[in-house]
Amino acid sequence: MTLLDSPSYVVSPDTSRAPLRTARTRSYAMCAPEHFAVEYAINPWMHPGIAVDRDRALEQWATLVQTYRTLGHRVDVAPALPGQPDMVFAANGATTVGDRTYGAMFRHEERRAEAGAWAEWLTERGHDVTRPVQTNEGEGDFLVLGSMVLAGTGFRTSIAAHVEAQQVLDRPVVSLELVDPRFYHLDTALAVLDDGNGEAPADVAYVRRAFSRHSLRTLRQLFPDALEVDEADALALGLNAVSDGRHVVLPVQARGLAEQLDTRGYVPVPLDVSELLKAGGSVKCCTMELHA
Ligand code: ARG
Repeated sequence: MTLLDSPSYVVSPDTSRAPLRTARTRSYAMCAPEHFAVEYAINPWMHPGIAVDRDRALEQWATLVQTYRTLGHRVDVAPALPGQPDMVFAANGATTVGDRTYGAMFRHEERRAEAGAWAEWLTERGHDVTRPVQTNEGEGDFLVLGSMVLAGTGFRTSIAAHVEAQQVLDRPVVSLELVDPRFYHLDTALAVLDDGNGEAPADVAYVRRAFSRHSLRTLRQLFPDALEVDEADALALGLNAVSDGRHVVLPVQARGLAEQLDTRGYVPVPLDVSELLKAGGSVKCCTMELHA
């Protein structure tokens, strides 16, 4: 038994709790915050001039890596490009599904150089990377499920990129419109708790106010039993979580969400990534999953 499977989860007298879920081993690509800083503002969370403790960011990031490895997942680390303070947010670097990888093309000039670095690194590791024509920020806006890809638009990724992603990744893509600038990437507004690749059906959590009325209707239709999350937890970037189907790594501040997850049969694994939050990113932003 590990710390993460504490006895309270194993012998629970609480019968209202759902049966525990099953984890599947994952492969993640990450990038250390070696050059992390808040030097420009491309989302409402960023305030240039605010003190950033890079050593603390590095420690918090290293704990995240260690947590994934302890859970049995594979983590490969890409080199950090000097002059790219946001490259720690690996999710934005590409979208990989099986043997297909759809490269990123960043909305803002400040991050453009990251796309090529990720494409090269992934190519060196044997991934077949298709360079995009359309603006898209990788897994920040493309959330991969077994049967479809949920795609965000409104702030960063263009709707045209949804069509391009569908061609490159060869999976149905469902477009969702983001309307609140604080939830500027889909992965800040919606978390995939179970991708539906195993025994259990797909399961997601989201915050209502991030989505347009029409997109909310789409979400309700696709996921009638989805977990709806409070604004306070969403504003702690609680939905920027990474699930292996059982353990859900999420920012420690999202306490209400951790409780909801527990009741739903997941094991919340809360971590402090407060330093990275200063750039508007949290757990999932730091994690590119190489989807099998
Ligand atoms: N400062 C970064 C940006 O605005 C944060 C990216 C967060 N990444 C994510 N996948 N949500 O682009």
